[in-house]
Amino acid sequence: MEIRDTLQLRSFAEYKEAYQESISNPEKFWDAIAEKFYWHKRWDKTLQWDFTKPEVKWFEGGKLNITENCLDRHLEKLGNKTAIIWEPNDPDEESRHITYRQLFIKVCHFANVLKNNGIKKGDRVCLYMPMIPELAIAMLACARIGAVHSIVFAGFSSTAIASRINDSKCKLLITANEVYRGAKPVKLKEMCDEALKTTPSIETVIVYRRTVEPTPMQEGRDKFWFDELQKVEKECPAEIMDAEDMLFILYTSGSTGRPKGMVHTIGGYMVYTGYTFANVFQCDHFAPTNTIPQKKYDGDIYWCTADIGWITGHSYILYGPLAMGATTVMFEGVPSYPDYGRFWEICDKLNVTHFYTAPTAIRALAKQPIELVNQHDLSSIKVLGSVGEPINEEAWHWYNDNIGKGNSPIVDTWWQTETGGVMISPLAGITPTRPTFATLPLPGIQPVLMDENGNEIEFRSQQSEGRLAIKFPWPSIARTIYGDHQRYKEVYFSTYNNMYFTGDGAYRDATGNYRITGRVDDVVIVSGHNLGTAPIENAINEHLAVAESAIVGFPHDIKGTALYAYVTLHDGKQASDQLIQEIREQVSNTIGPIAKPDKVQFVTALPKTRSGKIMRRILRKIASKDTSNLGDTSTLLNPDVVQEIMDNAL
Ligand code: WTA
Repeated sequence: MEIRDTLQLRSFAEYKEAYQESISNPEKFWDAIAEKFYWHKRWDKTLQWDFTKPEVKWFEGGKLNITENCLDRHLEKLGNKTAIIWEPNDPDEESRHITYRQLFIKVCHFANVLKNNGIKKGDRVCLYMPMIPELAIAMLACARIGAVHSIVFAGFSSTAIASRINDSKCKLLITANEVYRGAKPVKLKEMCDEALKTTPSIETVIVYRRTVEPTPMQEGRDKFWFDELQKVEKECPAEIMDAEDMLFILYTSGSTGRPKGMVHTIGGYMVYTGYTFANVFQCDHFAPTNTIPQKKYDGDIYWCTADIGWITGHSYILYGPLAMGATTVMFEGVPSYPDYGRFWEICDKLNVTHFYTAPTAIRALAKQPIELVNQHDLSSIKVLGSVGEPINEEAWHWYNDNIGKGNSPIVDTWWQTETGGVMISPLAGITPTRPTFATLPLPGIQPVLMDENGNEIEFRSQQSEGRLAIKFPWPSIARTIYGDHQRYKEVYFSTYNNMYFTGDGAYRDATGNYRITGRVDDVVIVSGHNLGTAPIENAINEHLAVAESAIVGFPHDIKGTALYAYVTLHDGKQASDQLIQEIREQVSNTIGPIAKPDKVQFVTALPKTRSGKIMRRILRKIASKDTSNLGDTSTLLNPDVVQEIMDNAL
C-alpha cells in the first residue's frame, strides 16, 4: 500500500470524524499521520507551542531527511513511475519524463556538487532558476545535504535578488544562463551578474545552460552545472536532520518595508504538505461514493501551473506530490504562447487529470475564443483547483463548465506562504462545493472570525463576516521571519491575543463554509502575486522628481486587482507621459515587471490624517470608481484635496 492510500480520507463522514479528532486530540491525530512517513528516529514531543512568544515546534527530537521521503522510500515500488513530466516553453521541443529513480540519482549527484563547492548543513543557497527540472533537482539536493534553499522567483529584478541574498547571507547562487518564456528570452545570468555586484556573501555561482547562447562567466566564481557534475560521485547519503531544522526560506511581501523571509522547518512542513496534497486533490484515489466518472487515463497526472518560485510551487509542485509518490507536471512557459490554447493543449497531450491554477489565469483564458478550449480533448480532467486570490463567480462557472465539463469538482484552496500548506479547501469529490467558497477547514485547522473590536464571532449557524485568524498551530506554520523574530511577532501575533492573524477578511455562511474576501492590510494581490504597497512606493519615491506616492489596488478584469499610483512631485517638476514611463520603469527595475502600476495619477497632495497617515481607504475608493460613500473626510488634514483627486481620477 502506498503512503497516500494510508492518509486519504474517503468520504465526507471520514472527513468530519478526522476533523473532530484533530480538534479534540491534536497530538494524537498528527502522531498517527506523521508515523506514516519515514523517520530515522521518532520524535519525543509532538507539539510545543506558545503564540505569545511566538514559538511553535512540531515533532521535536524526530530525525529525518525530507528527500528520503520524497525519493528513496518510493524506489522499491515506484522507481519506474514518472515523478516529473517537464513541458518546455516551445511546443516543438521534447517533453522530459523523469522517473523516481532517475530523479533520485540526479538529486544525489548534484548534492555532491554542492558539497564539493563547500556547502554544508545550514548554509543558505539562493536559486534563481527557470521552470526546468534542474530547479527541482537543486532544491532537493539542498535538502539532501541539509542546506537551506531560498528561491527567488525568476521574474524578479536584480535589486530584489540582491536584497534577498543579503538578507539571508546566501553562500552560493544557482541560476541558468537564459530561458525562453513565451517568445521572449530572459537573460537570467545577466540579471544575477548585476545583483552579484552587491552580494559579498556569494562565493560560487553554478550556471545551468538552458540555451546554447554564450554566457558571461567570472573566472573562479562562476561554474557550469555540467562541468561540476563531472567532478563528483553519484551517491550521496542523506544528511540526518532534526525535525525543526530549517528546510527553506521564502520571501513574501510585507505591508511595510523589506520582504519577509518566511522560515519553514522540515518535519512539520513535510507531514502537512504530504497530508494535504493527498486529501485535497485525492490523486490516484476516489472515495467509494464518488460521483466522478473515471476518464481516459489510469494513472493520475497532476499539474499545478504555479511557478516554483512561489509557495504554491514549493508545496504543491514539488514537496507534497513527491512525498505522496504522485506524477507532477512542470511547465516552463506561459499560458499565452504560442497561443492561448497552450494549457489545454498540454492537458490533452499529457492526459492531465488534476489541474490547479490561479483565478487570474482563468480570467485571462476565459476571454479567449472558446474554440481554443474545445479543440482539445479535456476528458482526462477529474479535479480542478484554484489558488492565490478570491475566485469570482463568473470565473468559477467558466472553469467549471468549460474545463471541468460540469463533472470535475473545483477545490478552491485558501492558504498563504506563511501557512506552508492549504488551510481551507474542499476535499475533491468529497466536500460539497459552493461557487467562490473555499468551504471548510482541513483537519487540524481552527479558523476564527474576529469582529472589529477584536472579539471572536461565535459560530451559531448564522452568516457572519470578519477578519480571519487561526487559533491553534498546524504543522507547517512558518516558524519565524529569518533574522527578525520580533517582526514575525508583530505582524502575525500581535493583532489578536494568542492567535495567528492572516491579514485576510472572510465571510462564513450558515453551514460554516468560508469565502475569503481579500486582504485587509496593505498587501495587494496582482495576478495572484502578493505585493506589498510599501516597497513599490519606496521604489517610486526614489525617482528624483517624486516627492511622495501611495499605491492602492483597483479591480481589474484579468489581474483581479491592478495597481494605481498616486504621485506628488517636487516643486518645479512637471507631470508628463515621459515621467509616467520612468516611474513604471523604476518599479520594474527595483521590484520586477509584475509590480508596475497600471495607472499613475499626479496629485498636488495625498489625503492625510492629522497624524500624517495616508488615508488609503479614500484612495482605494477613488481608484475603484466607488466614490458614492467616501465616509467622513472632515478629519483629514487636507480635505480639499479629495475633490481634486476625484476630478482628475483616471
Ligand atoms: C490570497 C498563496 C482567496 C489571500 C498560496 C492570502 C486567496 C494570500 C486564496 C496569500 C483563495 C490565496 N481564495 N484568497 N483560494 N488563496 N489567497 O502568500 O489573500 O502568495 O492571504 O500564498 O493570497 O498569498 P501567498
